[in-house]
Amino acid sequence: MQAPAISGDIAPGTHAYAPTVRPGEDAGTAGDRSSARWASERGLAILARLRSSTAPAHEQVESRLFPSALEDLASYRRMLAVLLALHEPLEQHFANEAGFVGLGIDVAERRKTVGLRDDLARLETLLGNAAPPLPPAGEPAASTSPASLPAALGAFYVLEGSTLGGRFLLPQVRDRLGDVPTSFLVGYGDRTGRLWKQTRTALVRGVSEAPHPASAEHALLTGAGATFARLDALLDAADWPAA
Ligand code: HEM
Repeated sequence: MQAPAISGDIAPGTHAYAPTVRPGEDAGTAGDRSSARWASERGLAILARLRSSTAPAHEQVESRLFPSALEDLASYRRMLAVLLALHEPLEQHFANEAGFVGLGIDVAERRKTVGLRDDLARLETLLGNAAPPLPPAGEPAASTSPASLPAALGAFYVLEGSTLGGRFLLPQVRDRLGDVPTSFLVGYGDRTGRLWKQTRTALVRGVSEAPHPASAEHALLTGAGATFARLDALLDAADWPAA
């Protein structure tokens, strides 16, 4: 599925996060510059591994939801209800995870449940008596909480990535369903690219500045995989057809 590219890449050579200064090198030396490039390339490699490790799960969710979620107002509402069940406990967890602040992420700014609730309430009004029952709500936060900061960052990656898909889905929804509530899909609007770039920088820092970067990367990938798996399980619980 191709969508307009979101410019969120960390360009090689930029200071995506604090470069390692090796012994004997002062900031500003050629050694430091090559160290920064090395760090930046390592960051891009982490992001590439994250993307490729979750690509099959993304493909699965995408083909499960598109275009079936846009069939009518009721299916669109059902998709938003499933996404609310995914986001709600994780957003609560992020709000209690102090590590996000240290990585430059303002989790309040990233909250999507407000828009999801707003869309759901307005769709219910639009559908009136024709509004079918919604799928069961998600499990309480405690049972879905990521076990560490890198695992939480993996979940954060999945939820933030969905804003990119939202940009693709927005015109599709308008074409197929007309003037319907789209707060969730509009998401960050014009700020999408900037916030995505900030997210990617935070993911890389969360891994590379961890005491054990290799295990932090493993937790990042596991956290992202678990979040896609949870979305799949929520779709199953909502009797959503398989891909
Ligand atoms: C409903 C169907 C969906 C479609 C059509 C879709 C489409 C897309 C597209 C086109 C991109 C790439 C944007 C770009 O590179 O500029 C993307 C990225 C992404 N989407 Fe989706 N998406 C969908 C649903 C979701 C959902 C529900 C989630 C998670 C809850 C999700 C998570 C992600 C992630 C994590 C990325 C970032 C991948 C990366 O570059 O590392 N998507 N999506």
